[in-house]
Amino acid sequence: MKQLLKTGLMAAILSSTVASGAVLAQEAAMNEKHADAAVTYRQSIFQLIRSNMGPLGGMAKGAIPFDQAVLETNGMRLEQLANMMSDYLKVDTRKFDVDTAAKDEIWENWSEFEGKIDALKSASANLYQVAQAGDESQYRAAIGKVGAACKSCHDDFKAD
Ligand code: HEC
Repeated sequence: MKQLLKTGLMAAILSSTVASGAVLAQEAAMNEKHADAAVTYRQSIFQLIRSNMGPLGGMAKGAIPFDQAVLETNGMRLEQLANMMSDYLKVDTRKFDVDTAAKDEIWENWSEFEGKIDALKSASANLYQVAQAGDESQYRAAIGKVGAACKSCHDDFKAD
């Protein structure tokens, strides 16, 4: 009986995932504790992203001088953080009452969301390359691309 119930549940989960056209890479949070932890982890990634983006925004605005070493380091870190995003965002917390700004659309349109992650990866990699090349005339545009990648994802997938 238990097994039957389990199988039925799994089938229901699978069919709802398939019906929404999502890739099976995502996983539903098992319970509230799991969902809460997932929110903490993903928000931590975004806090680290913010901490690395802060100085770049300052440089682009001219509030602080351009610093090639910081651009290289933070560009590399942003790429690494973007690499973690998919793993930490794939836990679907929709069914739980969690304190989050993540929109349901993330898990409804997972491949689109992954596309936004890829955009941040390439913008960060580009920033690193530009910083390494040391061409100061390119810095501002490269930072702008990273900022645009943040905004483009937030517009669609993050609540205000
Ligand atoms: C692929 C989508 C995506 C990209 C790219 C992205 N974000 Fe976010 N961001 C989110 C989502 C979704 C949340 C909401 C997370 C939550 O509340 O669970 C978020 C939350 C945040 C938060 C709030 C974290 C907290 O503690 O609640 C900050 C700050 C942030 N993002 C900054 C950035 C910056 C800066 C960039 C670019 C360098 C960026 N994000 C790129 C999707 C993205």
